[in-house]
Amino acid sequence: GNKNINAKLVLLGDVGAGKSSLVLRFVKGQFVEFQESTIGAAFLSQTLAVNDATVKFEIWDTAGQERYHSLAPMYYRGAAAAIIVYDITNQASFERAKKWVQELQAQGNSNMVMALAGNKADLLDARKVPAEASCGAGVGGNFCHGRCLKVWIMYEEAQIYAQENGLFFMETSAKTATNVNEIFCEIAKRLPRV
Ligand code: GTP
Ligand code: MG
Repeated sequence: GNKNINAKLVLLGDVGAGKSSLVLRFVKGQFVEFQESTIGAAFLSQTLAVNDATVKFEIWDTAGQERYHSLAPMYYRGAAAAIIVYDITNQASFERAKKWVQELQAQGNSNMVMALAGNKADLLDARKVPAEASCGAGVGGNFCHGRCLKVWIMYEEAQIYAQENGLFFMETSAKTATNVNEIFCEIAKRLPRV
């Protein structure tokens, strides 16, 4: 029969990675260029139907600013799922994402469904930089087909990192809606059926 599942979901990630924008896209189908930085956390909910279940996501959109870090456990404690978000144009945000994964592995639910979102995938072309500047001449010559080598490395690294740490990985764009419903849908499918 059809199951109704309530799932607490938390978004974690660096300031400006696009957590609120992903939620706004998923819940309201909207995007704003000048999304305000979250204070504390925001709560929204959205229901999604997958094959065998109706999943009501209770979403905690946390603040990425460091001064709110100590509040995070309140939001990930008891969460069935987490989306850890980084900005694909920002290496530091990827490093921050890995820290969040470590924290969740240490303190979170052991059976939490975790997704890694490389957000702002629409900025792919903005990452084009002169080959000689950062694409490493000699490493495969002109490697730039929209993505310079540095960015490919981060993408590859994210894929491997996700595999090794039991997360699934998707590049998303809150701006164009790419993979936004998909990532929530994939989580819904992976939630334990009780
Ligand atoms: P904090 O609340 O401060 O932790 O940040 P956040 O992770 O919630 O980021 P937020 O959603 O506020 O987005 C930060 C900025 O990035 C905003 O100006 C957004 O418009 C922009 N942004 C978010 N997602 C995308 C995206 O997919 N593509 C592009 N181009 N810009 C995005
Ligand atoms: Mg926010």
